[in-house]
Amino acid sequence: MKRLSRRSVLHMAGAGALGAFAAPALVGCTGGPARHWSKGDPFSLGVAAGDPASDGFILWTRLAPEPQSLDPATPGGMTGGPVTVEYEIATDPALRDIVRRGTAVAEPDYAYSVHAEVNGLAPGRPYWYRFTSGGAASRTGRAMTAPAAGAALDRLRFAFVSCANYEHGYFAAYRHLTDEQPDLVLFLGDYIYEYVDMRPAVVRRHSEGIDCVTLSSYRNRYAQYRLDPDLQRLHAEIPCLMTWDDHEVQNDYAADLSPSFMPRELFLARRAAAYRAFYEHMPVRPGRSRPNGPDMRVYDRFAFGDLVEISILDGREYRSAEACYGPPPRHGGFHLETNQSCPERLDPSRTMLGMEQEAWLFDGLSRSHARWNVIGQDVLMAQFRQKRPGDTLPAFSTDDWNGYPASRDRLLRHITANRVRNVVVAGGDIHSFFVNDLKENFDDERSPVIATEFVGTSIASWGPPYDRLAAALPDNPHVHFFDSRQRGYVMVDATPARMSVRLQSVGDAANPNAPLATLRSYVVEDGRPGALPA
Ligand SMILES: [Fe+2]
Repeated sequence: MKRLSRRSVLHMAGAGALGAFAAPALVGCTGGPARHWSKGDPFSLGVAAGDPASDGFILWTRLAPEPQSLDPATPGGMTGGPVTVEYEIATDPALRDIVRRGTAVAEPDYAYSVHAEVNGLAPGRPYWYRFTSGGAASRTGRAMTAPAAGAALDRLRFAFVSCANYEHGYFAAYRHLTDEQPDLVLFLGDYIYEYVDMRPAVVRRHSEGIDCVTLSSYRNRYAQYRLDPDLQRLHAEIPCLMTWDDHEVQNDYAADLSPSFMPRELFLARRAAAYRAFYEHMPVRPGRSRPNGPDMRVYDRFAFGDLVEISILDGREYRSAEACYGPPPRHGGFHLETNQSCPERLDPSRTMLGMEQEAWLFDGLSRSHARWNVIGQDVLMAQFRQKRPGDTLPAFSTDDWNGYPASRDRLLRHITANRVRNVVVAGGDIHSFFVNDLKENFDDERSPVIATEFVGTSIASWGPPYDRLAAALPDNPHVHFFDSRQRGYVMVDATPARMSVRLQSVGDAANPNAPLATLRSYVVEDGRPGALPA
């Protein structure tokens, strides 16, 4: 295998001549010469590492010398058969001490994306890597292995993020997050937005100016986001765990139901395209996550020694229809319903996770020996009473866990009955910071606190009206903090004694150079559910 020296890569990159690496004649894995790209940097979309295990991880890249190519027949500007990509893994950022070299195949059917499953490495340490192909080299990325199962770990720093509408703002929050160098970042959904916002206040445009429906349009949306330098650097430097929310497919969808009442077969074809594009752009396990038509598994569990176990959930693919789903004058997606207007919301057979995922989650929580059990998922879990204009009864969102209260009750009862230790729920979707007590009976102030919930605000997406939601706070005494006016993320430092949580704000995402401020800090003490001001 031909290797470029580090010095030559830096020299060429500095001269803006990465295209010079892109030799037109390459050898595909079938052995014959094949012309896969003739210009541009095949690693234009960067690199990413994810799904850390105690002996390895997934390394990702996608060959895309023309990342915004609009021709569906040449995704990313690539043509021809499979391409073999080499990777090298080192124990140091300068890639001097290389401990592993390997190859992976960039498959045309998956937009020439690469998902290299690496194992056999030492536990509990960072590694650095890069890809090379046809004389071109990627930037260097950082990966990590998790500590061995049950091994003593005294600290883990992780961030969680959601809702990065490119049209609503710049990704300064991603830049500050990367500067903090956490061990790990959890993406909790709305990584892309599928629609085009016609309001004049948008700060930049989705490139094609169309709603994503086809595979090539979803691919190009991911490519546009990955060309953002702050997001690309985040992925190069911080390993990740991934799940999705609704905008990776369509706003407020539920399983096979479109909120815009697309015929089911058409919507499932759209979902298949969306899930496939998600897979093609994320460092997730091919064995677990390679999509099968409209089906793809993203939920999984990750252990970090004896300190933290993280369950990553899928809150969209298996959920019941939104309560009172139906054509107008009923509703397709998010709406507020009282118990009188929509008794269906309380139906005990309704599920947020689907019975299979729910059983998997409950089993994992029961078996866990971790000090902290983090549940990373897409939407607000705590009860949140709101008021509809002109209505005196409390009303509840149909799109978050408030639309699936029986599912939430089962989870919280399971945590109590199995004495699951230190459950902390991380969520997104609502473009607001929330700090909540999770209780079996939210309507009874004496009901004990069972778990703690932190909802990250959005990276860039505009928040809901502050005054309207703040007016509901007196009816929700288990909500300790709420703010929808700040964009940002949440940073968590876990130790055996406590979890320290900072709500990190960049204020307005319309400012590409927005400075970082800590809006609030909390701690959760070992053995004492509920957030305390730090
Ligand atoms: Fe969102």
